[in-house]
Amino acid sequence: MTNVPEPLLKRGVTAMDNAQYPDQAVGEPFADDHKMSLRNVNVFYGDKQAIFDVNIDIARNEVIAMIGPSGCGKSTLLRSINRMNDTVEGCVVSGELTLDGEDIYTAKMDPVALRARVGMVFQKPNPFPKSIYDNVAYGPRLHGLASRRAELDEIVETSLTRAGLWTEVKDRLDQPGTSLSGGQQQRLCIARAIAISPEMILMDEPCSALDPIATAKIEELITELSQNYTIAIVTHSMQQAARVSHRTAYFHLGHLIEVNETEKVFTAPEHELTEAYITGRFG
Ligand SMILES: Nc1ncnc2c1ncn2[C@@H]1O[C@H](COP(=O)(O)OP(=O)(O)O)[C@@H](O)[C@H]1O
Ligand SMILES: [Mg+2]
Repeated sequence: MTNVPEPLLKRGVTAMDNAQYPDQAVGEPFADDHKMSLRNVNVFYGDKQAIFDVNIDIARNEVIAMIGPSGCGKSTLLRSINRMNDTVEGCVVSGELTLDGEDIYTAKMDPVALRARVGMVFQKPNPFPKSIYDNVAYGPRLHGLASRRAELDEIVETSLTRAGLWTEVKDRLDQPGTSLSGGQQQRLCIARAIAISPEMILMDEPCSALDPIATAKIEELITELSQNYTIAIVTHSMQQAARVSHRTAYFHLGHLIEVNETEKVFTAPEHELTEAYITGRFG
């Protein structure tokens, strides 16, 4: 292990401790056309290291699923992709993360602009305390994407349509977003993310608060959205990863253990830790 960062060596974490983990991300990249690349990414919360030397390329229009036991660092890694970790006190990210080849951690990268390019959908639907219309119109207004009301109306309609929610809400756009069911609220949050034309969408267990029917709708939506967006989804459901993703990445105690085509990960995993997880021996 050549990439153990200096602070870790000082704390007595040696290459030996990491010997059981693969040195680099294994498996072939999904395609050569990388949307997001992570190189030697380490994430710390104060003294505690949550992510260890992760290398991964995410292809344009790929759906990549991130799985692994609770606490293995899936959310932490996802949040470093759009610098949401900047808002977490004491959190430090090292390594190189590039979006279309551009380093997202330089001083000239505005995190607010970055989060418009790399949108995020959270575990619990979190609509703003505003109308359905205003939830979707909020971002386009903030970023000045519409000069006239008609233009804004069109963005709202298109985003809600793409999120599979338009027919259900078109006659009640002035009602509060919170008046919708949980599954509808999550689709509203997806519409809100889409409204500012992101390039990539990060989803952190987006269905964990939803019933099976609402979950199925979100999964269908993910497949549709992948035609236009690059999607990274964290899920605790292996079935969901198998249904929606092209590739699956398995994490264990902050290490990327393997990343491969989803079918391969679930039928012929390369690493024994992955196999133990998918066969239910832990997790
Ligand atoms: N804000 C935080 N401050 C300190 N430690 C944190 C924070 N968030 C997460 N962690 C720790 O980082 C590790 C990874 O957590 P997390 O990324 O939430 O894992 P997962 O999403 O896979 O369940 C865990 O040990 C967790 O306790
Ligand atoms: Mg999490």
